[in-house]
Amino acid sequence: MEAPRIISPEVMKLIVENLNSVVMLFDDAMHLLYINPVGEMLFGVSAPHLIGREAHELFNRAKLVQALGEALDSAHPFTERECEIEVNIEKVVNVDLTAIPLLEAEQPRALLVEMNPIDRQLRIAREENLLALNQATRSLVRNMAHEIKNPLGGIRGTAQLLERELVGEELKEFTGIIISEADRLQKLVDRMLGPNTLPHKEMLNIHEVLERVKQVVEMNLAEGISIGRDYDISLPELYADKDQLIQSFMNLVRNAVQALNGDGMITLCTRVLRQYTIGHVRHRHVAAIQIIDNGPGIPESLQEKIFFPMVTGHTGGTGLGLSISQSLINQHGGLIECSSQPGRTVFSVLLPISEENGDFHG
Ligand SMILES: Nc1ncnc2c1ncn2[C@@H]1O[C@H](COP(=O)(O)OP(=O)(O)O)[C@@H](O)[C@H]1O
Ligand SMILES: [Mg+2]
Repeated sequence: MEAPRIISPEVMKLIVENLNSVVMLFDDAMHLLYINPVGEMLFGVSAPHLIGREAHELFNRAKLVQALGEALDSAHPFTERECEIEVNIEKVVNVDLTAIPLLEAEQPRALLVEMNPIDRQLRIAREENLLALNQATRSLVRNMAHEIKNPLGGIRGTAQLLERELVGEELKEFTGIIISEADRLQKLVDRMLGPNTLPHKEMLNIHEVLERVKQVVEMNLAEGISIGRDYDISLPELYADKDQLIQSFMNLVRNAVQALNGDGMITLCTRVLRQYTIGHVRHRHVAAIQIIDNGPGIPESLQEKIFFPMVTGHTGGTGLGLSISQSLINQHGGLIECSSQPGRTVFSVLLPISEENGDFHG
């Protein structure tokens, strides 16, 4: 095999300077060592005027600066979503921020901070739409399913009565078809109605749920597909219905398996997000559980509507999986989001971690 080509430091520098994210490096005492051009643009000041300044001068947010210091001291990276920073006296921006302590043995300690400005209003509006649409379609489907269910019982019962009156096996074959088709429809309708039991919530470890799903799916998995994990084990327990979460994640992982068509990689990833808003509610901590696959992606024509019931890309698919998963997660105050492009499809399940129920002080 050809030896991998080493990228020169000049090229590395070029990459960092052309990134769309703001990249900042702080030294041990939280003085700025480096900032890339996008960062200069965000602060509206050129690098020489920023370098050497302290974190609290740059961000003007005591809590954030404290969290950054703690990240460096504890060697734990953290991500804070929708974090407000004051980049200039009159300019406040919203960013998603990740802090990564760099602790190479020979190097002095440093903290890498990556920031992406976000338009928070836009995202929340989009989520609200998604939630409202999902509720509307769920209730439409439920009503329709009920309407189908009632006459179905009548059809089946009448066919049974008729069957008893019939002499001759050939004719009974016809009533048999009516009965078995009615049963098939009944099952479909039950699935459309979704789980009708109230959630039975308990404190649970999300990784146990994911491990169970992984185990079940691996029982008959094509050889070319592997399921990897990238867990943040510091994730606190969640107050949730275990069976409902298993069903929900099972649907997502099975979809990924189908999409991979016998060959590829699925990753189960967990993270904690801070200060994250779902719908109208802002949560201090949210668990983000991602099902990532490197398959062909969701066809463009389907992307906007995959959470609707009866929308499917497979012949023989019911198109119910995602709509049921979404409702189950909504019942937990959470949300499923999706982003997809060929080679990388990510379903993110966001579940609030409530303070009353956990003793998380991350
Ligand atoms: N990981 C994925 N990669 C590509 N397409 C996907 C993925 N997950 C879901 N889809 C698309 O979304 C559609 C809807 O999924 P779902 O609601 O579970 O219904 P079904 O699996 O019965 O088709 C699928 O048919 C597929 O086209
Ligand atoms: Mg499915």
